[in-house]
Amino acid sequence: MNSVKVGLCGLGTVGSGTFNVLQRNGDVINARAGCRIEIIQVASRRPNPACNLGDTPVTGDVFAVARNPDVDILVELIGGITVARELILDAIEHGKHIVTANKALIAEYGNEIFNAAKAKGVTVAFEASVAGGIPIIKAMREGLAANRIQWLAGIINGTGNFILTEMRDKGRAFEDVLVEAQQRGYAEADPTFDVEGIDAAHKLVILASLAFGIPLQFEKVFTEGISQLDTRDVAYAQQLGYQIKHLGIARRNNGGIELRVHPTLIPRKRLIANVDGVMNAVLVKGDAVGPTLYYGPGAGAEPTASAVIADIVDLARTLTADPEHRVPHLGFQPEQLSDIQVLSIEQVETAYYLRITARDVPGVLSKITQILSDAEISIEAVIQKEADDGEDYVPLIILTDRAVEKKLDEAVDKIQQLPTTEGNIVRIRVESLS
Ligand code: HSE
Repeated sequence: MNSVKVGLCGLGTVGSGTFNVLQRNGDVINARAGCRIEIIQVASRRPNPACNLGDTPVTGDVFAVARNPDVDILVELIGGITVARELILDAIEHGKHIVTANKALIAEYGNEIFNAAKAKGVTVAFEASVAGGIPIIKAMREGLAANRIQWLAGIINGTGNFILTEMRDKGRAFEDVLVEAQQRGYAEADPTFDVEGIDAAHKLVILASLAFGIPLQFEKVFTEGISQLDTRDVAYAQQLGYQIKHLGIARRNNGGIELRVHPTLIPRKRLIANVDGVMNAVLVKGDAVGPTLYYGPGAGAEPTASAVIADIVDLARTLTADPEHRVPHLGFQPEQLSDIQVLSIEQVETAYYLRITARDVPGVLSKITQILSDAEISIEAVIQKEADDGEDYVPLIILTDRAVEKKLDEAVDKIQQLPTTEGNIVRIRVESLS
């Protein structure tokens, strides 16, 4: 049996998981790959007690792996975008194929990296960069190749979903759950990436490029996090039959592409509304296949290692194929990528949940509904709570029909200026995902 030689850079959560799974399941993995997959060098600055490297050679210098003439595939699991970018470009220059779990790097520098790989006739595989162990990239790039993708919506940050679930079900404090997510190895080095939606935006950009055949455009994603979510809104949403999830949404619409990450009310009866904890799910709507849902663990050592090793096996199988006969990085042939515009959030159309703090006096509701009706925004549901004893203000919850965001912004501004409303209006977008 031939062997394919792997250099593993990074021995953190995912690196050690990859080493361990390759050792434990080497027999089945090799049987699937049709060759022996051997880790011949590891680059790590410190040992990781989670894995026993045995006599595998270790270096402290990741660039030594990029330049090791015996390495066929460099697996980049060091994270970050500065050294990782240099490392991958250096390894490509030295003719190595690349496997990476680095979503930030692919989202921000993928176009450059794929061009460099194309020039050298090597492949960059990145299954583990989106939704941990779910083979979503393979599904979109190959399994759904017959379809025009109409939209996709995903819970693609395990940490955020874990936090929302624990807060909802156990009433735990935000900070407390975040610490647990860090201890379990789910959270990013900078956890604001998880809670402010940046990590989800990185993943969404990758999925959108695969879906629509567009270059990676991270800077154009509209991003809103979960750190400002109020537990009252979670409860009111439930009363209305919805669940609040932090979604990444990409949709072809109005002559452009919507790319957005934000908390979203979704009907509780949808399967994706019931995806809890660190689990991820991506709902993809293709014109031929209809809606398809992909579900699984979105973070953690071995789930992510599962995706990393799938890429190694894929590469091992295709190492002998001509570069032009391999699956293209973004699913479309590079010269077929489209320059269709990405829409600004003002151009996006969705329904809305509004929570208005209104004075408990006659006529307030009619003034608010008049403003919405003048803006041609129709109302789907209203809940008005009774004022607590001694309180002058009451929460007024309104679910609107779909409206273009710019119109909604103008109406919300007018409502906020009414003397009978107080403070900022809470606004959460609503998607029926039907
Ligand atoms: N921080 C990420 C998450 C890890 O929580 O989903 C997997 O990309």
